[in-house]
Amino acid sequence: MNNVEDVLNSLNSKSLKVCVVGIGRIGLPTALSFAKSGLETIGVDINESLVQDINSGKFPLKDEPGYDKIFNDVIKNKKFSATTDIENIVPNSDLILLSLPTPMDESNVPDYSALRNVAMKLSEILSPNSLVIVESTIEPGFIEDEMVSLISESGRLKVNENFFIGVCPENANPGEILHDFTNLPRLVGGINKNITKIIKSIYNFVFSVELIEMPNCKTANAVKLTTNVFRDINIAFVSELSLMFEKLGIDTNIVLEAAKKKYNFQVHYPGSGVGGPCLPINSYQLLNTAKRTGSNLSIIESGRKINEKMPEHVIELTLDAFQECNKSIKDSTILILGVSYKPNVKDIQLTPAEIIIKKLQKLNANVLIYDPYFKSTNVFGIKSEENLEDIFPNVDAAIIVTGHDEFKEIELSKFDHMNNKILIDTRGIVNPLSAKEANLVFRGLGRG
Ligand SMILES: NC(=O)c1ccc[n+]([C@@H]2O[C@H](COP(=O)([O-])OP(=O)(O)OC[C@H]3O[C@@H](n4cnc5c(N)ncnc54)[C@H](O)[C@@H]3O)[C@@H](O)[C@H]2O)c1
Repeated sequence: MNNVEDVLNSLNSKSLKVCVVGIGRIGLPTALSFAKSGLETIGVDINESLVQDINSGKFPLKDEPGYDKIFNDVIKNKKFSATTDIENIVPNSDLILLSLPTPMDESNVPDYSALRNVAMKLSEILSPNSLVIVESTIEPGFIEDEMVSLISESGRLKVNENFFIGVCPENANPGEILHDFTNLPRLVGGINKNITKIIKSIYNFVFSVELIEMPNCKTANAVKLTTNVFRDINIAFVSELSLMFEKLGIDTNIVLEAAKKKYNFQVHYPGSGVGGPCLPINSYQLLNTAKRTGSNLSIIESGRKINEKMPEHVIELTLDAFQECNKSIKDSTILILGVSYKPNVKDIQLTPAEIIIKKLQKLNANVLIYDPYFKSTNVFGIKSEENLEDIFPNVDAAIIVTGHDEFKEIELSKFDHMNNKILIDTRGIVNPLSAKEANLVFRGLGRG
């Protein structure tokens, strides 16, 4: 796998054998894309029921439009199957893609155990001359400083001699993966320049997007983290500003709508916090790199603190609204509108909604949940509601935590059926003047 001509020949003859380790949210669509290009692809995962479902033709990612058809096609023409048996598959593969999870632990320390475990396994079973590509989000230097030595550990394999490695960090948006895989540019970085070219030719065969050559693996991973952490910091910046604008009676939405007319202002919006499988973790990954290298990333550190404080501000707004009504939050019933970490996706990983719910419960409020993506489901120990219309007369207050499109359609008059008529909007959806006209006790995060 270190000769461009040979790789191109094996791509064109469709004889290149591909294995994707970790076939979750990102790995499965990746594997399906490789299979769709005509390459025989096998997905490896430790999740037995996922593997079973896939092999019995059940597509697990219902909220990824377009991939259900690709899945049916590649299963039917036997270009794709799944297994838990890494030991049998890896030695017979030329290309091994790793799309393993890179979460963090409860102390916000990045957890690379899945990658480390698989790297140690590869050390024993990888066939000489194979190419490993890491798609997972990792810190700059993780390939050079850790993966290479873990894969070399058994003594059978030596990087740049009989095994090769590179990265192509994944940057797709859940719910839009097919769109992103066919439109967004990708970064490619190899352990040497030749491997970068080879990875580029492989991805070029599968994806019709711009492939940006990076000088090495660590630079590619630095770009991936820089883009996401940029977002985390900018959300923190506007969130912190919005706290001050509230005190000044300035509407942050009006500020941002006007500010974004300036040619070099890139708008971000404040809110109840930043969750999801990427942004918070990516900031802590860079902070971990800073610690490792004796560097100081104080802006990222402050940004995290601000974003993690925002759920508490939602509670302050709620308590303030209850005070205006001369009502106690204790024993009140509060409806949480939206638990997903961002609009229009079914995903509650690290969602600020969980923190808000726990804080409300600590204040002895009874919490109800309505989320169009989680109907009649057990979420954070609460069975979510099926139907929004029926709930209003049973609640004292509602808090919009996620800016789902469905919530933009709710007529304000519906909130009038609530007992205390308290509406807290943390996502800039409701116009404060309209809320006033509707006689609601309204608090809008950052709305002055
Ligand atoms: N989900 C996103 O929005 C997104 C976007 C861009 C990048 N990423 C990155 O992509 C990577 C994968 O994320 P994901 O969201 O697909 O995760 P995921 O949890 O959906 O999928 C990971 C899969 O790996 C499997 N797995 C875990 N340990 C394993 C092992 N030892 N051997 C084989 N399989 C194993 C799990 O069972 C799971 O099916 C992460 O680094 C993440 O940061 C995710």
